[in-house]
Amino acid sequence: MEYTVMLPAAGSGRRMGAGENKLFLPLAEKPILVRTLSVFQQDPDCAGIILAVRPDERDRIRGMLECHGITKITAMPDGGGERQDSVRACVRAFGAAGGADDAVVMVHDAARPFLSRRVIRELAETAAGHGAAIAAVPSKDTVKQVTDGVVEATPDRSTVWLVQTPQAFRAGLLAEAEEKAFADGFLGTDESMLVERLGHPVRVVESTYDNLKMTTKVDLAIGEALLKRQEE
Ligand code: CTP
Ligand code: MG
Repeated sequence: MEYTVMLPAAGSGRRMGAGENKLFLPLAEKPILVRTLSVFQQDPDCAGIILAVRPDERDRIRGMLECHGITKITAMPDGGGERQDSVRACVRAFGAAGGADDAVVMVHDAARPFLSRRVIRELAETAAGHGAAIAAVPSKDTVKQVTDGVVEATPDRSTVWLVQTPQAFRAGLLAEAEEKAFADGFLGTDESMLVERLGHPVRVVESTYDNLKMTTKVDLAIGEALLKRQEE
């Protein structure tokens, strides 16, 4: 199933504490951003990549794309102050280029280089059939809702899933969700939340635990170990 991927890459990587956008950091010698882009570059089902970037990093990223043979970029909009703003810029770029409402698009954090082709395929097929599908894994830990240091509730663990990206949608549905959130001043932590607000059901595709987001130094260390294991 053909799809277009939207990659927000316009963050600052504050929690990584690297003093620059964490996406430039090497993971076994290749920048995180290049590793993520390469997954989509090599996937024959990926029709195009829309990459949201910080204006001050545009030239550096262009150089990187050239150097690593990333040729599928169809648009590179300026990102915004929040991740959701950067995703909205991608959604608008897709619409401006004449992207069809019933095309499948997926949003994926540029900071998650370990996603699998199997999950991408299942997400694209499920989104084509049902409109919305997100990657997630069952929680291995018990989850508590805590307020002011005191436990308020314990959701039944069998119903708790930890959500990742990619999140795949019919393009028209995602655009409607993004524009409604923008109009309402609603800020979500993922795209699914915005679609849920429309009352549209969101399907879950079981992903893998190694689809980690490179957020802190610990994630980098785990990422290096995962790559070493792949080489063996
Ligand atoms: N992102 C973005 N625009 C923003 C903020 C984040 O495009 N204004 C992107 C990041 O580049 C990353 C993805 O969204 O690929 C997930 O965000 P996160 O892991 O939070 O990255 P950062 O915001 O860069 O990190 P931090 O929150 O620690 O500053
Ligand atoms: Mg962030």
